[in-house]
Amino acid sequence: MTFLRIDPRLVERLRDALHVVIFTGAGMSAESGVPTFRDRMTGLWARHDPQDIATPEAFRRNPQLVWDWHVHLAESVRAATPNAGHRAIAALQDLVQQVTVITQNIDGLHARAGSREIIELHGNLLRLRGFRDDDGRQEGLRLARPPRPCPLCGARCAPPGAWNPDPGLSLAGFGLAAGPVPRCPKCGARLRPDVVWFNEMLDPDLLDQAWAAMENCDAVLCVGASLEVEPAASLPFRALECGHAVIEINPAPTALSALADASVRGGAASALPRLVESVWGSAQGPGE
Ligand code: OAD
Ligand code: ZN
Repeated sequence: MTFLRIDPRLVERLRDALHVVIFTGAGMSAESGVPTFRDRMTGLWARHDPQDIATPEAFRRNPQLVWDWHVHLAESVRAATPNAGHRAIAALQDLVQQVTVITQNIDGLHARAGSREIIELHGNLLRLRGFRDDDGRQEGLRLARPPRPCPLCGARCAPPGAWNPDPGLSLAGFGLAAGPVPRCPKCGARLRPDVVWFNEMLDPDLLDQAWAAMENCDAVLCVGASLEVEPAASLPFRALECGHAVIEINPAPTALSALADASVRGGAASALPRLVESVWGSAQGPGE
């Protein structure tokens, strides 16, 4: 493995860091075979308008189209395995006191690589929840609402009297699979992937945790993120404002490149293990 040339003072700052945040975007998983969103040729948004397949309005309009697109994406996620970059991040847990992964990715590959503290800002594709009538509706629910959300899927769509009283019901058998859009066996709501679509809010608790991590850490590695989607895009800049060391790893420049303490032009699977090796001396991860 060839070492990266990094300013020795920066290496020192990284070695002294007690809490390292790894902030990742779709480029993190590109070499695992999961397509990115904004690549001009192969990106997911090169072939589809996100308004047609990644918004609550699209699901309301044509749930089957939206479901089928996510089933297709889930197939590439299930076929993917964590790459050497994911494993290097997991290995960092043995070298640094605290490692927090903040990811925009919905593929679950950080957990599969062995990372333990993970904030999934945009949800997880392989988890389902009930579609709520107020999903994506800024003005709130206009329909009559049951007093509490469905205990199985979280939806607030059917009057409680209509819920199936069978106590043995569960969502365990449901997943993103080809076929009709499934419905919650308790309340009848359509099930949807538990991801954040356009026009939807991020979970405020997760966002708070991510802000706090950026403010309280010592160093941030920003990997494979185009930094074009708010509010996630602002997070690494918060760490810069706080005076923490920020290093970017991305084959293409972003708005962060000129401001970061170092900008490494390379792919996550090769540059990240080299960075970890160069700074901390080992990148052998537990792997899958
Ligand atoms: P993008 O598709 O916008 O950007 C991918 C980034 O990865 C780009 O900056 C590429 O240069 C970089 N990249 C490509 N190959 C790489 C590699 N092998 N190693 C490292 N970097 C590489 O993806 P995101 O920034 O994640 O939102 O997009 C942010 C959000 O937009 C996504 O979470 C998604 C999307 O709409 C939701 O699903 C809510
Ligand atoms: Zn339900």
